[in-house]
Amino acid sequence: MSEKLLIHQSGPFQGTVTVNGAKNAALPLMAACLLTDEPSILDNIPRVTDVLTMVEILRRLGAAVTFEGHRLTVTPAGFTGTVAPYDLVSRMRASICVLGPLLARHGKAHVSMPGGCVIGPRPIDLHLKGLAALGATFSIEHGYVVGTADRLRGGRLLLSGAFGSSVLATANVMMAATLAEGTTLIEHAACEPEVIDLAHALVAMGARIEGQGGPVIRIDGVERLHGARHRIIADRIEAGTLMLATAIAGGEVTLEGAQPEHLGAVLDKLAEASVSVEKLNGMLRVKREGPLRGVEVTTLPFPGFPTDLQAPMMALMTIAQGVSVLTEQVYPERFMHISELNRMGASITREGSSAVVKGVARLSGAPVAASDLRASAALILAGLAAENQTELAGVEHLERGYQNLEQQLGRVGAKIRRLSEAEQYK
Ligand code: EPZ
Repeated sequence: MSEKLLIHQSGPFQGTVTVNGAKNAALPLMAACLLTDEPSILDNIPRVTDVLTMVEILRRLGAAVTFEGHRLTVTPAGFTGTVAPYDLVSRMRASICVLGPLLARHGKAHVSMPGGCVIGPRPIDLHLKGLAALGATFSIEHGYVVGTADRLRGGRLLLSGAFGSSVLATANVMMAATLAEGTTLIEHAACEPEVIDLAHALVAMGARIEGQGGPVIRIDGVERLHGARHRIIADRIEAGTLMLATAIAGGEVTLEGAQPEHLGAVLDKLAEASVSVEKLNGMLRVKREGPLRGVEVTTLPFPGFPTDLQAPMMALMTIAQGVSVLTEQVYPERFMHISELNRMGASITREGSSAVVKGVARLSGAPVAASDLRASAALILAGLAAENQTELAGVEHLERGYQNLEQQLGRVGAKIRRLSEAEQYK
């Protein structure tokens, strides 16, 4: 049995929290360090288990990695490996983003197929289609993607799938294209801030890229890249989670380091729900005093409402006035949190890729279990508004993507305590 979190009804919040670096920027950036023999330094890296898994993968591939504080130093001189093993990839599907660098540097790759997870199937067809357009060939052998590429050549490719573009497929193709011969045009590229951050780091390493953040990215291949030092962007999903926590507990919290330009759709929905957000230089001040209003939310690729905040937003809507509808256009199966929220007294029904939430006067604390990273955040938020106590199991899911959420919330007034295993047996 692992540790649990004990959450009591809390609020109104008061104070300031600092937003950590973005996990979803860190992971592809760590893979990008393999594109050169020279050392690179990444700053503002969050201490979350997904980053530790990626450190392990880089080390298995032969790179030397040190991770002190929030600084990661990757020295790929000994990077000769080509295998990303099942035991690590099955722990974190984002490991697939070593595929592009492996093909670009070694011309071959053995990467375990990611397989599905609780938020839905995690196909990689767009990754393979994009890299094949650069001259790579793939076969599936014993659960592994086996890729080979004598010399990557620039090409023109379309990365649009049934659910829009793909963030990590865009990252994989962009990374491979930096060392391909000639020009690559990625059409229907993902526009997420994490893709822009990756492009900025690659340019600092000597790559020639333009158009990042828009639907067409142009990469002109170069002979080699050099090491660089890069500070990654703030985590917009952590910032959004902290804002939604303030909305559910009530009160006023200032977020330091949040980048409002990454949170437009979230600010828009919070305003509709009667939560005020003031933009100050480098900070966001969130305030909720009156009753919450139910809203309609559809998750979409950036700049739409992020799918990673759908579960925390649903938690907020459980106590809003009226009926809310949350529709998933990115991961239609991402609703594992509905049953646990209903056990806390919420009134949510699933209608295909939508969830209909009827606001209730209050939630009641209960023992609940997290199914995935963002569901665990949603259950913490619900616990802040629920009468009595909520005991959350599955804290390991939370730690994949939130460095210190319980401490951040505790600092502004949340009553959250970690229960060690020993304490649970008392
Ligand atoms: C990134 O995953 C994020 N992870 C996810 O965050 C996030 O939910 C997702 O983007 C969408 O924003 C990282 O950046 C490490 P996609 P990624 O490829 O790149 C389908 C979290 O909680 N698709 O953009 O793997 C796919 O099934 C995590 O921090 C294909 O059909 O997501 C999904 O429906 C969870 N074929 C949609 O596209 C493919 O080849 C978007 O997926 C690839 C994806």
